[in-house]
Amino acid sequence: MPGTVILTGANGSSGLHAAAHLLHTYPDFTALLTVRSAASTDANTNTLRATISRFPASKASIHEVDLADLSAVHNFTTFVSSSIAQGELPPLQSNPLQRVLLGPLTFVAHAAMMLRLLEHFDAKHGARVIVVFSVGHFCKPNPMTVYVPGIPGDLDELVHPWVDEKVRYQYAKLAATVWCYALNARLQAASAFPRFSHITAVAINPGDSADSRVFQTNTLAWIRIVVAYILVPIRPLYRLLVDPTWRPSSEAGVDIVELAVNHDK
Ligand SMILES: NC(=O)c1ccc[n+]([C@@H]2O[C@H](COP(=O)([O-])OP(=O)(O)OC[C@H]3O[C@@H](n4cnc5c(N)ncnc54)[C@H](OP(=O)(O)O)[C@@H]3O)[C@@H](O)[C@H]2O)c1
Repeated sequence: MPGTVILTGANGSSGLHAAAHLLHTYPDFTALLTVRSAASTDANTNTLRATISRFPASKASIHEVDLADLSAVHNFTTFVSSSIAQGELPPLQSNPLQRVLLGPLTFVAHAAMMLRLLEHFDAKHGARVIVVFSVGHFCKPNPMTVYVPGIPGDLDELVHPWVDEKVRYQYAKLAATVWCYALNARLQAASAFPRFSHITAVAINPGDSADSRVFQTNTLAWIRIVVAYILVPIRPLYRLLVDPTWRPSSEAGVDIVELAVNHDK
């Protein structure tokens, strides 16, 4: 049964494709699309508006939620839970948490939103929490950094990594992934709370998308050049021969939505 889907980072590279796929393929769902800025001067939010306008029959709305601002997250969560409680919104079907996790603070925001909304997930038909991770959390060097992530003894290092700013991204992804599995274990084992056992928490690696705007904005010039002139052109070949997870944001967006709402997947 179609319910409500919350998609954070809906104006991001894969977020825009996820939103388009959701509205096109699952028009009966109510889509709450959150962005950091809903201002009319935000080019990416305007692209999201243009995407929604292609689907005039869709039940989509844009909500401004800065995930680095816990009170904004709580205000949005209160709006969603009271709307569901009053029958103004259908129960949550899924909640893909897919924006870039910049640091533990954002992870806290996602976790706070999720935990407060658990009681509003669709108890009858099942529902999913989707957490987006990356290769960054694996315990081995990756193309971004040679340092491996871990939960440091001194928790201050989560916010102020001693070695490399990119490690903060890895910390955040590691924390989010560990949290996702811990949450799922508790949901599945919740025989004392059967109303939660229909919810599954799933983590997905969307793959490496060189066409993401993360490589074009607020990024060093040499990274922009390498990505635009080398990685994007060779991606199809590299994907074929070396790493099948090198794929465009469009495929990532589609898979995130399919995992969220298509329970046959
Ligand atoms: N691209 C890749 O190669 C790759 C690889 C592995 C995993 N991933 C993961 O896939 C997900 C999506 O990646 P992407 O490439 O689509 O990223 P993206 O294009 O950079 O989009 C990031 C989104 O996060 C939003 N955002 C950033 N800070 C925010 C805040 N404080 N509050 C609310 N929203 C905020 C951005 O909104 P603004 O417009 O306001 O900045 C944007 O919508 C991320 O979780 C990423 O870590 C990506």
